[in-house]
Amino acid sequence: MNEAMAEKGGATARAEGLVKVYRRGAEEIRALKGIDLEIEPGEFVCLLGPSGAGKTTTLNLLGLMDRPTGGRLDVAGHVVGDGARQSESELDRVRRENIGFIFQQFYLMPTLSALENVEMPQLWTGKPDRARARALLERVGLGHRMAHRPGELSGGEQQRVAIARALVNRPKLLLADEPTGNLDTRTRDDILALFRELAGEGLSILLATHDQELVGYADRVVQLDEGRRVA
Ligand SMILES: Nc1ncnc2c1ncn2[C@@H]1O[C@H](COP(=O)(O)OP(=O)(O)O)[C@@H](O)[C@H]1O
Ligand SMILES: [Mg+2]
Repeated sequence: MNEAMAEKGGATARAEGLVKVYRRGAEEIRALKGIDLEIEPGEFVCLLGPSGAGKTTTLNLLGLMDRPTGGRLDVAGHVVGDGARQSESELDRVRRENIGFIFQQFYLMPTLSALENVEMPQLWTGKPDRARARALLERVGLGHRMAHRPGELSGGEQQRVAIARALVNRPKLLLADEPTGNLDTRTRDDILALFRELAGEGLSILLATHDQELVGYADRVVQLDEGRRVA
């Protein structure tokens, strides 16, 4: 934990009054209307809500992929919004050092092996560590698939590669956007069990889903509807 985090009381991420308005021409879409939420170290939180509720928007803001229209955001001790003016490169650095993402579509590089995919984010941080990439693939149960390309892996295996890739730079926060949406129920349950283990090791996880069945795996549920927190 760095000093800034200790000062903020240790939460991995905290949003206060988070607002996001998208503008498309003359149209304004109020995607988030003032959301408060907090994720502690080692917590596995399910962000539940129907399509259009604002889940992906919330993940994009917490992941520093996009800037809030209003409210305050604190990610690993770095404050964003409410007049805080970081450059894009500063936000990129905070993101790369603190946040891992996984998505429903996996987004692996099709021409690279599983091992090369996991190594990719190390290019951004300039700390190549093939042993760590290998160890992570072992950790997610793919020690025997390191040389395979994504097209030679099942959906569940591809998502495990994506999880290993998301962890390679030792993030504090894993943001997962409908990560089991393309998986069968058994593979889904395996991935959720892996999330539980990772949270047990101190990783904070925010899992966005519309699927009520997933909430049983999480420590806690934050529920969104039409841009508001309803539970
Ligand atoms: N880039 C964008 N531009 C305009 N509207 C957007 C954009 N992204 C999302 N929205 C709108 O914001 C609302 C919330 O979307 P989203 O966060 O993707 O919800 P969810 O992930 O819960 O389905 C929706 O009405 C959606 O159409
Ligand atoms: Mg979404």
